[in-house]
Amino acid sequence: MREPSELLHRFAGDQDLDLQAEWNHQLIRDEGHCNPMTVPELKKRLEGWLVGEYKAVLFSLANEVVAYALYRETSDELYLRQLFVSRDRRRKGIGRAAMKILMVQIWPKKRLTVEVLCKNTTAIEFYRSLGYQDYALAMEIMPGSKT
Ligand SMILES: CC(C)(COP(=O)(O)OP(=O)(O)OC[C@H]1O[C@@H](n2cnc3c(N)ncnc32)[C@H](O)[C@@H]1OP(=O)(O)O)[C@@H](O)C(=O)NCCC(=O)NCCS
Repeated sequence: MREPSELLHRFAGDQDLDLQAEWNHQLIRDEGHCNPMTVPELKKRLEGWLVGEYKAVLFSLANEVVAYALYRETSDELYLRQLFVSRDRRRKGIGRAAMKILMVQIWPKKRLTVEVLCKNTTAIEFYRSLGYQDYALAMEIMPGSKT
């Protein structure tokens, strides 16, 4: 496989919505989230986000798109909502190379935030390896669960 240092990036356009929606669907399963939205529903949600405050970046190796990131910038923070590396390309440095591009070339210097499900230990290890530190723990009681 090619070196992740050859990773190229571009901002996503309308032509990328189908791929992003499909990958969003995979991301939800990979991270262990219970969101039941279908691919068409995710596409519609994404369209709304992208005409609003979110931006998406696609990363490619040798003309093949291998990852995407979706983020929102506010006055004091850069919030990474989604980062996804194609399932057959993981653990080869692509996620790290993509984050380096975001941090060095795209994002201004600000507080960087991300939310990760506790059960998504892969992502937790990944973000910690980049310097993100544990900050808050969201807690819940689901309706119908024993208290
Ligand atoms: C999380 C994710 C983006 C990481 O991308 P990746 O390209 O596989 O990660 P990298 O190969 O760049 O890994 C960089 C470092 O992260 C850590 N890491 C990555 N995957 C790991 C795993 N499965 N277990 C433990 N540590 C891991 C390691 O420290 C790794 O460095 P090393 O390989 O030199 O040990 C990818 O697994 C993914 O798309 N997951 C599904 C979607 C998701 O959960 N996204 C995050 C929530 S939005």
